[in-house]
Amino acid sequence: MQRAWTLDEIDWQHFDASKVSPEVIKVIKTAAMVERNGADYGRYLCNVFQDDAEFCAVATSWAVEEEQHGMALGRWAQLADPTFDFDASFARFTDMYRIPVDATASVRGSRIGELCARCVVETGTSSLYSAIRDAVDEPVLKQICKNIAADEFRHFKLFFSHMERYAGSATEPFSKWERLRVAITRFKEADDDEIASAYHAGNAVTEPYDRAVANSNYGQRVFGFYHQRHVRRAGYMFAQAAGLAPEGWASKLLTKVLWLIIWFRGRKFRPQLARA
Ligand SMILES: [Fe+2]
Ligand SMILES: [Fe+2]
Repeated sequence: MQRAWTLDEIDWQHFDASKVSPEVIKVIKTAAMVERNGADYGRYLCNVFQDDAEFCAVATSWAVEEEQHGMALGRWAQLADPTFDFDASFARFTDMYRIPVDATASVRGSRIGELCARCVVETGTSSLYSAIRDAVDEPVLKQICKNIAADEFRHFKLFFSHMERYAGSATEPFSKWERLRVAITRFKEADDDEIASAYHAGNAVTEPYDRAVANSNYGQRVFGFYHQRHVRRAGYMFAQAAGLAPEGWASKLLTKVLWLIIWFRGRKFRPQLARA
């Protein structure tokens, strides 16, 4: 997998502080933490797929790209907030949250399940960076999010193709219901400690860590970027990952419910974040 862009290709000199909102900075600091942790996730994936050299090579390149997303977002956050100590924040985050790098089997119970969960994550990230790209006026952040969104869509296709390969080989029994269960479980984990810790550490929150509070603070802001079109595309991709017909009634219903949740959770900041 060829890296499509580098940090040197970003037009950092075009950064415009007058077009930066404090609410956007909070979201970007959070995303920078999670993305920069990609190297650990790459190691975990290589352990889980240790007898699949082809996939291990793909996962290693993927992790490099995810880490680059983190470095780009972190560098932008340092421009937007010169008091932001990216390295110290990231160290705080990894103290709070660690990926099980030593696991030799997927926490999803199977390798198809692991690939399905990765597809769900890439669905979330591709929609997130598309929504931010469309919402912000600051030119450097717009460029970074455009690049990252393109990577995340490509990552989805990559994990999806490997999931189909495993599903076709029938070496691991994996029912339609199991695939749906894994996809929904991974979706619900968006509210677990990973993002909450990233918000807390990335934004140097001084109060004691509270997962619910951190998730609420992050969700209120991040969902404010979304328009319905971003959710429609995410719903379509989620349905593909979950093994549902993307144009079927279940997928359409799910997309509607998803939009209602995102609309509701993002209602406070949407007027100032989401632009046409
Ligand atoms: Fe990423
Ligand atoms: Fe990705």
